[in-house]
Amino acid sequence: MTRAPLVALLLLGACQRTPEATPAPAAIALTSQSITLPPETATLPASAEILTTNCTACHSAEQLLTQPKLDAKTWTTEIGKMRTAYKASIDPKDDPKILAALLTLPNQK
Ligand code: HEC
Repeated sequence: MTRAPLVALLLLGACQRTPEATPAPAAIALTSQSITLPPETATLPASAEILTTNCTACHSAEQLLTQPKLDAKTWTTEIGKMRTAYKASIDPKDDPKILAALLTLPNQK
């Protein structure tokens, strides 16, 4: 029966060790910032509009125009990777058109 006071003490100790409430964050002052992006120097051919629609939200035209020459199978894998790994909202129905456009880029000939 001598354990009851000990248990009570342990419980009291546990209560006292409760972490203090997180202090309210100090007021945050948001300020406007501006950055200057490098100018876009490359343009995709007009026939590659499907790439503008599906790729240039994330990539510059230059990025697409400086890729090494890849075969159709590798480009198909790339399109799938953009969709699965990077969550690009590319409609699978557009894959054949995107592939055709990629294969006709100047750097792919
Ligand atoms: C939602 C954003 C997003 C979209 C849309 C997107 N990509 Fe990507 N892509 C990425 C990210 C992130 C990477 C990895 C980092 C990098 O290389 O820029 C990448 C990498 C690449 C690479 C480099 C090789 C590799 O596998 O990492 C190629 C080539 C590429 N993308 C082509 C494309 C093409 C072609 C399209 C359009 C069909 C496309 N991407 C659409 C996000 C995107």
